[in-house]
Amino acid sequence: MRVRLAVFASGTGSNFVAISQAVQSGIVDADLALLFSDNPEAPVLTRAQDQGIPTVSFTPSACGSRLEYEQRLCSMLDEYAVDLVALAGYMRIIGAPLLESRPRRILNIHPSLLPAFPGRNSIEDAHAAGMHATGVTVHFIDEGVDTGPIIEQVVVPISREESVEQLEERIHKVEHRLYPAVLQSVIANLQED
Ligand code: GRF
Repeated sequence: MRVRLAVFASGTGSNFVAISQAVQSGIVDADLALLFSDNPEAPVLTRAQDQGIPTVSFTPSACGSRLEYEQRLCSMLDEYAVDLVALAGYMRIIGAPLLESRPRRILNIHPSLLPAFPGRNSIEDAHAAGMHATGVTVHFIDEGVDTGPIIEQVVVPISREESVEQLEERIHKVEHRLYPAVLQSVIANLQED
């Protein structure tokens, strides 16, 4: 089975680029079917277009209601025959219609050792709390914020001397290695099914 992967992103898209490169080099054995963004101004859209990846973008407000937004997302995934979705800096909760349409087929990456430091400012929060370590988590999503079964975590030590920006840069480097590797292990399991 040839797995068709979609990436959902709202912003910069450095994880999208890492995934796309991993697909191109064969580290991730899938077709990158689609990049979706809920933000029509997101730089990630240009990055995907530059690489010839199909893009779709619409906002919830353009759909009338949250339910209609979710239903349109489901139809889009059906239209592009998507098997697996990787959230990569997608700044919205996934609702029931989408979750139920693809159980255990939607992954997220988060820059902390979940369940510690969920939410938007996890790198800053871990740094400000004086933690000796933080990390990166890849997990299947559920209806919560940064919850759902954890697939893999990597610890990133925090040095007392480093700034938040330096820590962020190191965390992103870990993310760019970890996400393609975890995606490939999930894809290999799907191919066995
Ligand atoms: C990453 O830190 C990811 O863990 C979090 O959002 C950030 C997205 O960064 N969910 P980018 O847009 O992939 O550069």
